Amino acid sequence: MLTPIRTAFLLSVFALIATASFRAQEPQVSPDPWWKHAVIYEVYPRSFQDSNGDGIGDINGIASRLDYLKELGIDAIWITPMYPSPQVDFGYDIANYEAIDPQYGTMADFDHLMAEAKKRNIRVIMDWVPNHTSDQNQWFLESRSSRTNPKRDWYIWRDGKGQGKPPNNWQSWFGHSAWTYDQKTGQWYYHYFYVQQPDLNWRNPEVRKAMYDVLRFWLDKGAAGFRMDAVSRLFEDPTLHDDPILPGRNAFGDPNIQHKYTDDLPEVHDVLREIRKLVDGYPGSPVLISEADEPTIQDLVKMYGPNNNEIQLPMDFKVADLNKLSAPDFRRLLDEIEFNFANGQPYFFFSNHDQARTWDRYGDGVHNDQIAKLLATLLLTTHATPQMYYGEEIGMRTTVPTRIEDVKDPVGRTGWPKDKGRDGERTPMQWDNSKDAGFSNALKTWLPVPPSAAQYNVATERYDPNSIFNFYKHLIALRREVSALRDGSYVTINRDDANVLAYLRRAKNGTDPVLVALNMSAQAQTVNFSLEGFGVGGKQLHVLLASPQSANSDLPLTGVKLEPFGVLVAAVE
Ligand code: GLC
Repeated sequence: MLTPIRTAFLLSVFALIATASFRAQEPQVSPDPWWKHAVIYEVYPRSFQDSNGDGIGDINGIASRLDYLKELGIDAIWITPMYPSPQVDFGYDIANYEAIDPQYGTMADFDHLMAEAKKRNIRVIMDWVPNHTSDQNQWFLESRSSRTNPKRDWYIWRDGKGQGKPPNNWQSWFGHSAWTYDQKTGQWYYHYFYVQQPDLNWRNPEVRKAMYDVLRFWLDKGAAGFRMDAVSRLFEDPTLHDDPILPGRNAFGDPNIQHKYTDDLPEVHDVLREIRKLVDGYPGSPVLISEADEPTIQDLVKMYGPNNNEIQLPMDFKVADLNKLSAPDFRRLLDEIEFNFANGQPYFFFSNHDQARTWDRYGDGVHNDQIAKLLATLLLTTHATPQMYYGEEIGMRTTVPTRIEDVKDPVGRTGWPKDKGRDGERTPMQWDNSKDAGFSNALKTWLPVPPSAAQYNVATERYDPNSIFNFYKHLIALRREVSALRDGSYVTINRDDANVLAYLRRAKNGTDPVLVALNMSAQAQTVNFSLEGFGVGGKQLHVLLASPQSANSDLPLTGVKLEPFGVLVAAVE
């Protein structure tokens, strides 16, 4: 008789062979909210698919690729901002929170996308940018028009310390002073990010109301939740203390500074609780995901709220940015998270639109494809909800501009050449090996398609059983179908191994154990798995997925050979 795990394995092999065909995947019935077991995929709309030949991706382009996302096994997409914007920060400078930028389409296109996504059981998560607006937002235009305008206090306006001197030493994350002088009204406004991104004043109840109305607007349109931008920066010290200066200078040439009086103020949590209450009033368990690059695990834990009443999925930047393959370091981080989160659900990712892609950030220059598979396994087989970034599933790499005149991201222009900005991780999605990788038929795309697209693209990889794409697809199917991987418990094993990170997942009733082993070294390793003390009776391993592929489908628990950066996912039977 087939055990559930073997059945899942056969299904997954079928998925691997039938890579080109569409396979409907119904959600599992589970008492848990959907986001605990979802695979979430970040879409950068500008770079995903251009449908109208202007060299910039758009909403209809995303809709045309939903079948692809379904084939891959994605449950929800987070779309970075596509609201009207002067695009200084490529959408993170919002001029109107309740509309669609014509560059990306219309509200009717958005509604169509929602309807098509729903048909495929793919949820849509919106990006919500509460810390700042564009300086072209009507709210700011009114605020800056006079000192007595009713919206003056919607932003942070202060007097300077004298001729040409800002109110204090606070610095923008994107370089130089966080204060800009406004000639007309003779005061300075505060901006944690670009000059064109003035910070909202979250101490003003009218601001809160307006921003909560934005949440309601998109929830009413069927949004499944929000990725909340830069929430830890919502409040600043009202007494304007200077921030402590640290040794050295940053890429922008400014003194290093500790953002002590502008980050992580306790007031943030009152807002998070209000927002959680708001979304909890909607059906369908909407999710809140926060950008939380918190300095310590204790700070990250706080984002969940004292009674899990704040953010359900705070992003864990500690895991994302370890930036080296180290079994002891990952073991420590995963354990730290497991033992600190009470009932909170961890949320892992490795890539996003703000940092170099993992293919090169973790690659060693020799085994990059194999390392991409290893990281995929780590992302998709722990207890955490995984978030992918478009193109990681095909091994897209970071393609940094080589000349300052080509740089689009202002961070790269201010920081050149020390910080070349974020264009490198935002290049167009690579669909096939036609011109511009099937992204667009424009003469020029907004960022260039790198030469590596000829080899690393969906069409080519779909038919290669050893491709990164098929590896991801297989893993996602396993995660969905094997209960231990989907919602089981997690415990690390072989804890003293300096090279191999290994852990055990077990289904909710403690059965059907699955072992995951990741060789984080460039040398082959022979491993003996010691499962005593874990209450696991199995005597051998049945391979569910291995890379490089395993010659045997069954392996003993001792003397298991893992190739350099080799990966093994196996049922213990
Ligand atoms: C977040 C976004 C980033 C943006 C910044 C300012 O960090 O991810 O892309 O530049 O906020 O809005």
